[in-house]
Amino acid sequence: MDKKAIVAEAAIKEIQKDFIIGIGTGSTVNALIDLLPTIEPPDFFVSSSQATTDRLQALGFEVRSLNEAGRLDLYIDGADQVLKSKVALKGGGGAHTLEKLLASNANTFIGIISDDKLMTSLDYPLAIEVLEEAQSAVSRTLVGMGGQPVLRAGSTDLGNRILDVTGLDLTNPEALESDLIQICGVVETGLFAKRRFDKIYIASDQAVSIL
Ligand code: 5RP
Repeated sequence: MDKKAIVAEAAIKEIQKDFIIGIGTGSTVNALIDLLPTIEPPDFFVSSSQATTDRLQALGFEVRSLNEAGRLDLYIDGADQVLKSKVALKGGGGAHTLEKLLASNANTFIGIISDDKLMTSLDYPLAIEVLEEAQSAVSRTLVGMGGQPVLRAGSTDLGNRILDVTGLDLTNPEALESDLIQICGVVETGLFAKRRFDKIYIASDQAVSIL
């Protein structure tokens, strides 16, 4: 079994029938979704992206919006890189705006990752979703902060663009997250510091540990 399947199998135990549950986006989450037919699932799920909605619906599950569902008991998602402090970089799949919305409205936020994503420092490009009209202006501001933004091809589920940014100082992630969201034209960042994971399942080749 690969690490995504191993960690999905361990974390599926967190899903309870009477919970309101949000589901993240990405290949690790897809492994979890594929296991949902093997348990007694809740009546519906709240999805963080069109890709996750499509996968859930293809398996016959009902998807409701956060507006309809109300506060989540649990939100489960993957990540691109994670620190021991449970701060994460997300957004490799470009869904981090809705992912952060669901995480911020969940009583418990659980991560599912492979052990190669647990880092001592973060160096994955930081995904910043911006309004299309703001991509040049925001890029100039980011360069002024020491960043090197690269425009990602395509647009997000929300019709915006993504800048993948390297070079920013991530030593104080909460402060950086606050500074970035205040730039006019920024919709959301993939830096999850203020709402960080509560618990993380981490798969190695042999076992799953919990942080
Ligand atoms: C999508 C994300 C994903 O959680 C992240 O990219 C990890 O994906 P994968 O499980 O495919 O490695 O943040 O926006």
